Amino acid sequence: MADYKITLLKGDGIGPEIVNQAVKVLDKAGEKFGFSVEYDEALLGGCAIDATGVPLPDETVAKCKASDSVLLGAVGGPKWDTLPGNIRPEAGLLGIRGALGLFANLRPSVIFGPLKSASPIKDEIIGGNLDIMIVRELTGGIYFGERGRKEVDGQPAAWDTEMYTVAEIERIARVAFDLAMKRNKKLTSVDKANVLESSRLWRETVIKVSKDYPEVELNHLYVDNCAMQLVRNPGQFDVIVTSNIFGDILSDEASMIAGSIGMLASASLAGEKFGLYEPIHGSAPDIAGLGIANPLATILSVAMMLRYSLDQGKAADAIEAAVAKVLETYRTPDIYEDGMTKVSCEEMGDLVCKAL
Ligand code: IPM
Ligand code: MG
Repeated sequence: MADYKITLLKGDGIGPEIVNQAVKVLDKAGEKFGFSVEYDEALLGGCAIDATGVPLPDETVAKCKASDSVLLGAVGGPKWDTLPGNIRPEAGLLGIRGALGLFANLRPSVIFGPLKSASPIKDEIIGGNLDIMIVRELTGGIYFGERGRKEVDGQPAAWDTEMYTVAEIERIARVAFDLAMKRNKKLTSVDKANVLESSRLWRETVIKVSKDYPEVELNHLYVDNCAMQLVRNPGQFDVIVTSNIFGDILSDEASMIAGSIGMLASASLAGEKFGLYEPIHGSAPDIAGLGIANPLATILSVAMMLRYSLDQGKAADAIEAAVAKVLETYRTPDIYEDGMTKVSCEEMGDLVCKAL
């Protein structure tokens, strides 16, 4: 029997190509660090809609629950864009997050040394190095609140609700404080407490939880200010904790500071070891099948899986070091710079394996 059982949700667009490369790297890491992995595949998103009529078949949830962790590529594409909201590929993604109770989404924004010039932010603003951990609440708030259509003043209208319970805020705050304790002990909680009642409860609750973490320096920013501070002085941030929708927006912004959305990994955790790992980018249908996608975010997601779910921290460090090494010479088209060697998705996977 293998040491770990991983469910692969390759998804749509470039999903299959990037997951294949990440699997190669995981197997290579296993060879080197002495563990074995067994894989199972399941459908999520557009491919699931095509095969079964729904974006998240029950069988997919069952397979994920029966595994040590899940590796996800990406879902969605123009083919399914005109379907009603509840059967779009994205509904499958939200569904799996909810079904597996993955309330804590960790989105690190780091710049790999050789990619510094790829960041649209000037070197002197980035300063030394960028290393931000965004902790996004993932199973609550407006993404999961009640919504609907109605008529107002004879006009068609639509509504969504942002709601958080104290318990939901407390558990995500604890994840963020725990992470801050392992890092630079600085936590920024982001809300819109000058306007939203849900944000006022968010802030009160985070302050309450902070009493258990006297060593962590806590500050609060309104989300608009945080969006601005991220490009003005990204070096001020260590860990950021925020709601589902604010985290969605701020993590895209932070990814660009790191040079390319093709580089950033994420972990979605349920509080214990189990997690779902995925690149933060989408399915890039325009380049699907061309073999030019950047697999590094997915490969780095495997590193996060090794660190957070499989207790293989050394293998995780080794993969990250291998990626940094390969980037000194080789680039996929999205991060290509003069003087580098341009490689395909598959070649990039092979190079990381070789550097391991
Ligand atoms: C993300 C994505 C998803 C989200 C979409 C595809 C539903 O943007 O993971 O950030 O909004 O959570
Ligand atoms: Mg997003």
